[in-house]
Amino acid sequence: MSLVKKNNRTSVLDIMARKGGEPVVCLTAYDVNMAALVDPHVDVILVGDSLGMVLYGMDSTLGVTLDMMIRHGQAVVRGSNTALVVIDMPFGSYQESPEQAFANCAEVMAQTGAGAIKLEGGVEMEATIKFLVERGIPVFAHVGLKPQSLNTHGGFKAQGREEAQWEAIIGDAKAVARAGAFATVLESVAEPLGKKITEEVQNITIGIGASKFCDGQILVTEDMLGYNSWSPKFAKRFADIGNVISGAVETYAGDVKSRSFPEPENTFSMKKKKT
Ligand code: KIV
Repeated sequence: MSLVKKNNRTSVLDIMARKGGEPVVCLTAYDVNMAALVDPHVDVILVGDSLGMVLYGMDSTLGVTLDMMIRHGQAVVRGSNTALVVIDMPFGSYQESPEQAFANCAEVMAQTGAGAIKLEGGVEMEATIKFLVERGIPVFAHVGLKPQSLNTHGGFKAQGREEAQWEAIIGDAKAVARAGAFATVLESVAEPLGKKITEEVQNITIGIGASKFCDGQILVTEDMLGYNSWSPKFAKRFADIGNVISGAVETYAGDVKSRSFPEPENTFSMKKKKT
């Protein structure tokens, strides 16, 4: 009997085969519990560097470290069984040279067991993406609004609202596809631009605030769950978890203060251990 656990995960090739077919469902997760909850319903789980803002309260993703991505990546791989896990490379860990990118991406893949990495950038990252893919690292690219470039973009700004900006963004999407990225996130690009890119590139496009015509969609899970009071305009809320948690905590606090705290067996349906 083999001691090696069979890998039942969606592969990069499975994702690539979905071009123009059934839309690819992606969500973020940063921890074991969220990974286990989203895993049965999605094709891809992204351990996004958005965790810096969503989990750690940073005002941008620039302070996220390689170590943070590795720790959260390990938790998400542990919590999931079938989705392809993709890990975001943090700012400063891949932009310097293809060699720097390879060393850090290989470390992330080896330490976490994830199936791919994601990095931001277009034309300027073409050589690096090619270098990585040729050496066995599947790359998920990210163009349009690139949160790690907020200081050169002048903030978190939607991209391609003016047609004059389209050529550069299309150039970026084509460059990363040519370099071998199996998929590309199109973040906050105008709807017709997202559609045009999807029609013109060979790889999978995944929209976030882009276009319903992309090959798939991604959202930050906390945004679609209504975890925080603020979420981006494009992120539809599918639940109101923030209020559910507040309500439960308020009830708990009331119970504690009024000493009406129920016995453990009445609080939820956990089976009592036989003595
Ligand atoms: O970091 C992240 O969560 C992302 C998604 C928003 C695409 O890059």
